[in-house]
Amino acid sequence: MTGRPCPGRRRPWVVGISGASGTAYAASVLRGLLDAGEQVDLIVSKAARMTLRDETGMIFRPSRWQEAMKEWVGREMSAVRYWPIADMAAGPSSGSYLTKGMIVVPATTASVAGIAAGMSKDLLQRAGDVTLKERRPLVLVLRETPLRRSTLLQLAELSGEGAIVMPASPGFYSDSSTVQALVDFVAGKVLDVVGIEHQLFEPWDGHLTEQSEGE
Ligand SMILES: Cc1cc2nc3c(=O)[nH]c(=O)nc-3n(C[C@H](O)[C@H](O)[C@H](O)COP(=O)(O)O)c2cc1C
Repeated sequence: MTGRPCPGRRRPWVVGISGASGTAYAASVLRGLLDAGEQVDLIVSKAARMTLRDETGMIFRPSRWQEAMKEWVGREMSAVRYWPIADMAAGPSSGSYLTKGMIVVPATTASVAGIAAGMSKDLLQRAGDVTLKERRPLVLVLRETPLRRSTLLQLAELSGEGAIVMPASPGFYSDSSTVQALVDFVAGKVLDVVGIEHQLFEPWDGHLTEQSEGE
C-alpha cells in the first residue's frame, strides 16, 4: 500500500479520538496543534461519537465532519484531513504514509488494549500499531480510573516499546480557576512531550519557598 500525504502537505500528526470521557482534551490538543501550524490527520472512533454527543451535544456525522469540528474546536479545518474509522485503506494505516506521530486523546482502556495487542480492529488501533512499528512518537492520554491490572500491564508494555503514557491528570499548581484551564493543562503537557510550542498554560518557573529561604 502506498499513500503519501497530499503533495505540498507537511507530515501530519495523527489525532485519534476514542470513546473515553474527556473529549474536551481532544479539542484543546487540536487547537494547540492548529495554532502551532501543524497538519492533522483526524480519526474518530464510533464510541467517541457517543461521548462527543454526551459531553458536547454535538452529533458527529462523518459526512459533515468539517462543520462539526470547526464549531467544536473553534478553528478553520483546512489543515485537517479526516479519515473514517472503518477505512482500513486510509493513509495512516500504512507505515509508508509519513506522519510525525500519533496522539490518542482521550484514550480508552479498549484502545490501549487493542494497540498493545496489535488488534487493529479499526483505523485508530491500526494507526497506533503503525506508529509504534515505525518508531514514531505515540502519545496515549488515558482516561479511566481505577485501572485493572491488565491495563497497567498493557501500559507498561506500551511504554517499554516507546509509547508515552499520559493519564489525563491535570496539575493544580498552574491556573486551576476553571475547568478549561485544567483541560488546557493536560493538552499543554501533551504538546510539551512532542515538542510543540503552545500558550495553553504558564510553565512552572520555580519560586522560593519558606523552606528554601530558611536554608
Ligand atoms: C459516556 C461514555 C463514557 C465513557 N468513558 C470511558 C472512559 O472514560 N474511559 C474508558 O476507557 N472507556 C469509557 N467508555 C467506554 C468506551 O467507550 C468503550 O469501551 C468503547 O468500546 C471504546 O471504544 P473505542 O476505544 O473504539 O473508542 C465510555 C463510554 C461512554 C458511552
